[in-house]
Amino acid sequence: MADNRPIGVMDSGFGGMSTLKTLREILPRESFVFWGDNAHAPYGVHTAREIQDYTMEVVRRLLEKDVKAIVIACNTATSAAAATLREQLSLPVLGLEPALKPAVEYAGDGLVAVLATPATLKLEKYQQLSLKYGRNTVNVPCPELVELVEAGQTDTPQVRACIEEKLSAYRGRLKAVVLGCTHFVWLRDAVQRAVPGVRVFDGNQGLALHLIDVLQTNRLETAAEYGTCEYHTTSQDPEILRRLEDFARRVEG
Ligand code: DGL
Repeated sequence: MADNRPIGVMDSGFGGMSTLKTLREILPRESFVFWGDNAHAPYGVHTAREIQDYTMEVVRRLLEKDVKAIVIACNTATSAAAATLREQLSLPVLGLEPALKPAVEYAGDGLVAVLATPATLKLEKYQQLSLKYGRNTVNVPCPELVELVEAGQTDTPQVRACIEEKLSAYRGRLKAVVLGCTHFVWLRDAVQRAVPGVRVFDGNQGLALHLIDVLQTNRLETAAEYGTCEYHTTSQDPEILRRLEDFARRVEG
């Protein structure tokens, strides 16, 4: 049986659109509704309770669109809210966590830098992950990079200077970098240039493969030939709306 309803994707802001780009590429027949909570971004400097409340509110908007599954395209919101959402909802809820395991396996004895929001690094979910896999890792909170991406900057001198400052202390010892925030996936080229030869990991592709599996298992795959995509934001700021269109072009491009 086919299910042509869309898949809901949410983030605090434009970061989740990097995830959406991968989902659109890997699942071109599925339709998506994206919601960025730009009115409350960044999430990563808030308490777990606040992040949970914001996330629930955006998920409520997605449910009104009759989505068949929800993708929390945000490491921070996943840490704060995914478990509660799974308890409350009867549809599949997928989330993201920093790709620590593959990075550590790749790096061997080399150093792994995990770039994420302060909330992601502090919350229980990542603490557990870190206990399990986190040997030779350094946690690097980068709330400033979230702000820069929200401002529409992905490869400016300011972005490059910020990445440089975050990673310079580890230069020469680094074997891998984990982009543990979906906003930073837009900065992949800038990060790679800052640490040439170092392997950069993110969770978007793994999430897309997991989504394929979940759709198959739950018999939720579409019968459509081509998927569509709607873009929404909780912000009414005209500048944010303009940036949403810019990022949407990058998703579709
Ligand atoms: N994009 C988000 C993440 O993956 C959160 C960024 C933020 O709002 O602080 O963690």
